[in-house]
Amino acid sequence: MPQGGAFISLEGIDGSGKSTQARLLADALRRAGFPVALTREPGGSPGAEEIRRLVLEGDPDRWSAETEILLFTAARRDHLERIIGPALARGEVVITDRFADSTRVYQGVTRGDLGGMVDRLHDLMIGVEPDLTILIDIDPQTGLARAVARKGTEQRFEDMGAEMQTRMRAAFLSLAQGNPRFAVIDGGRSAEAVAADVLAHVLAHLDRI
Ligand code: ADP
Ligand code: TYD
Repeated sequence: MPQGGAFISLEGIDGSGKSTQARLLADALRRAGFPVALTREPGGSPGAEEIRRLVLEGDPDRWSAETEILLFTAARRDHLERIIGPALARGEVVITDRFADSTRVYQGVTRGDLGGMVDRLHDLMIGVEPDLTILIDIDPQTGLARAVARKGTEQRFEDMGAEMQTRMRAAFLSLAQGNPRFAVIDGGRSAEAVAADVLAHVLAHLDRI
């Protein structure tokens, strides 16, 4: 991975406010004069957006758990090669709405215990972590209500229900525990209050590099 720039991911359960916060953060950093690349997963590059459609639409049993991990990882590899890597090489601040922690949590937890396979494939094919990960933590009922209100054709994962969202929230918090890459932020407040907190963490990080 080329040096330069800063690599920031936003993570959290569905409806936690990641996309909203990614956009607000990009706007605030651009106003402050930083060159910013705002992107998302699954997707972010043309090829990965095609894979996004394959994994998020259609029958919930469309793919086996193992095939699903391969598809998410293939999408991430393309995203990294074509969008994230080049933006970092240009010295940009890359903000991605989800990255590998989503695979660790969703594929590691929701489809049986496949955490070991996720980690090995990550090491083999991706091999990089964000410099800073903002985990937007939210009560699953609130997240689910927001995600359902938004609705759309990409319902495969949001149909998983409150019990699964609770397990995924716990899995995200457990990844963050004791890992200095993470900042955990309370997402159960107004978008503006959350955004101020996110920006403070990011500016503190950018000051240090
Ligand atoms: P995610 O990307 O984590 O799924 P979104 O940013 O798309 O979350 O937010 C889900 C829905 O909740 C959207 O309709 C959005 O407008 C709304 N929303 C986002 N942040 C907040 C907030 N802090 N308070 C209330 N509603 C919010
Ligand atoms: P996203 O568009 O971020 O959904 P939302 O805005 O509702 O949070 O992601 C779509 C779904 O893809 C989401 O339910 C999580 C899932 N996902 C995985 O299962 N594994 C992954 O590696 C990624 C990146 C996403």
